[in-house]
Amino acid sequence: MIAMDESNISFFKDGCRLDGRKADQLRPLKIEVGVLARADGSCYIEMGGNKVIAAVYGPREVHPRHLQEVTRAIVRYRYNMASFSVEERKRPGPDRRSYELSKVSREALEPVILTSYFPRSVIDVFVEVLQADAGTRTAGINAASVALADAGIPMKSLISSCAAGKVADTIVLDPMKEEDNFGQADLPVAMTPNGDITLLQMDGGLSPAELHEAVEMAMNGCRQIYELQRKSLVDKYSQLESLSQVPEQEAEACD
Ligand code: CDP
Repeated sequence: MIAMDESNISFFKDGCRLDGRKADQLRPLKIEVGVLARADGSCYIEMGGNKVIAAVYGPREVHPRHLQEVTRAIVRYRYNMASFSVEERKRPGPDRRSYELSKVSREALEPVILTSYFPRSVIDVFVEVLQADAGTRTAGINAASVALADAGIPMKSLISSCAAGKVADTIVLDPMKEEDNFGQADLPVAMTPNGDITLLQMDGGLSPAELHEAVEMAMNGCRQIYELQRKSLVDKYSQLESLSQVPEQEAEACD
């Protein structure tokens, strides 16, 4: 969040936000499953102006070996922002922000992954931000969760994530860049479909009543995202099912 005088910015016009949304509306969402041939599971997501890809590899052997856990798989999560993903070129390579986002995103997903099924192994999650427009950690978590399911990693549930924010003293869902950078607060949330929260961060300030409203709004956003995550997986696997039912003669004709 950039410390800047927000008084010059008009966040609302005729009751709508700068991109035409209502306060409690998500940005347009697109989810595509299985986009990378060489990953065990993958997902491409667009959340408004964010374009993010997640790739999952594993469970596989841990290198270096001293990282092995005898009772469970370890989960590694690498969040990376491409240098061309933001207005001002980002210096390539890890930095403090990417270490933080990798850590909190891993912790948001780990509680639902059945790591005890795969002792001494590693599940690697790579998240690449191709285009950033605020909420990249939430977009990354959504993509990673679907990519883990696509990789066949046993999980208790999916994880869905989105943020709420405060701009011009109004609580808004899924802030875009202008709202995030010049707003009064940003509150990313991740949760299971049952409403168990696995990520809750806050940047800026909210009163207890506003915090309650923002958490409720973000959770509501997560519920909507969950429906699309689920649908994208069901669509992919029902397509595969129907392909596997192509009559033998037709299948031969394609050889
Ligand atoms: O992306 P997210 O909201 O999870 O994290 P943030 O640190 O609050 O960043 C908010 C937004 O600021 C990013 O999504 C980018 O659009 C922008 N940003 C940037 O332009 N350059 C950076 N080096 C980091 C962030």
